[in-house]
Amino acid sequence: MILVTGGLGYIGSHTVVEMVEKNEELIILDNLSNSKLQVLDKIHSITEKRPAFYQGDIRDPDILEKIFSNHAVEAVIHFAGLKAVGESVNKPIYYYDNNITGTLEVLKVMKKYGCKKMVFSSSATVYGNNPQVPFREDYDLSTTNPYGASKRMIEDILRDVYTADPEWSITLLRYFNPIGAHKSGLIGEDPNDIPNNLLPYVSKVATGELDCLCVFGDDYKTLDGTGVRDYIHVVDLARGHLKALDYVRNNAGAEAINLGTGNGYSVLQVVKAYEKASERSVNYKITSRRPGDIASCYACVEKANRLLDWHAKYDLNQMCEDAWRFAYNENEKK
Ligand code: NAD
Ligand code: UFG
Repeated sequence: MILVTGGLGYIGSHTVVEMVEKNEELIILDNLSNSKLQVLDKIHSITEKRPAFYQGDIRDPDILEKIFSNHAVEAVIHFAGLKAVGESVNKPIYYYDNNITGTLEVLKVMKKYGCKKMVFSSSATVYGNNPQVPFREDYDLSTTNPYGASKRMIEDILRDVYTADPEWSITLLRYFNPIGAHKSGLIGEDPNDIPNNLLPYVSKVATGELDCLCVFGDDYKTLDGTGVRDYIHVVDLARGHLKALDYVRNNAGAEAINLGTGNGYSVLQVVKAYEKASERSVNYKITSRRPGDIASCYACVEKANRLLDWHAKYDLNQMCEDAWRFAYNENEKK
């Protein structure tokens, strides 16, 4: 039995679908702070199965105790966490408590029950402002905001846990920029507030919910001056978790592994691909740089290829087509 924390969120729900389709037995724990219970119905519609669900907080030892005493948990895929960079700057205590205290509570119950396998959601944000792309896992880490710092601290904690007890097996998956949606168009990313990230914003301009995309800077040293990122289809990312689960089942250690495609695309290339996929125009204007942004960020994926036997399958056009199908469906419902 696998415990999936944050399993109703954007990446978690896509991973749960892939797991159910591979006949993995799983339990979801989510406090719905950034997701909706209806996602469980959507998972059911896609897979014809309904995973066990506990509504609760990873910081609550009682609910963790209940789950571990009721089920033989073999491994934890740990998505639960808060992820908005800007909000983390304004609410650092809330972020550190949720992400770090939450992870410590999960680790405590795992230790108590002898469950020593974890797949953890880290982020490319731990590479900080390093200008040397592609990012390799052995680079020095640095962070520029409480969200990033929480990921970096958790990585350190998990490495220390392994050092103290080498029976542990942990992968620290450093995601690059997940976008896209399941091909059913039923699950995807639909933030309630005005989106901070590029793809949800572009989607809302294409549906007409927002007027115009602000492109944050066109004076970077990149092919067209706009920021370059390694966008990865969320279903590829989900598939990477199944490979990581295989890996922790068969190898002890604490390994940081990048999950990206290894290719970078600029903001304007994304806009163009989205226009093609949606057959709509995406209005944009160039504005000043967003503080804290870097010019280019993309992954070296050699380690993921080698250790996990995992490669991203989907290209930018597919990511935009799937993102558009989901955005269109959601907008039709409003
Ligand atoms: P998300 O917000 O859609 O999903 C996170 C889920 O965790 C949500 O369903 C939320 O309700 C739940 N949750 C949050 N705090 C909780 C708590 N204390 N107890 C129980 N449930 C809790 O985010 P996502 O995009 O699916 O990201 C999943 C993980 O991947 C996060 O840890 C995030 O930091 C990390 N990550 C995301 C990105 C990205 O761009 N989406 C990039 C790098 C890393
Ligand atoms: N961008 C715009 N306009 C927008 C939004 C974004 O031009 O309205 C640009 C940004 O300047 C950047 C690119 O689009 O060049 C991507 O920006 P996102 O906000 O979508 O993504 P980031 O790369 O800034 O950050 C994301 C997550 C972080 C995570 C990081 C690495 O938000 O949490 O990827 O995984 F740490």
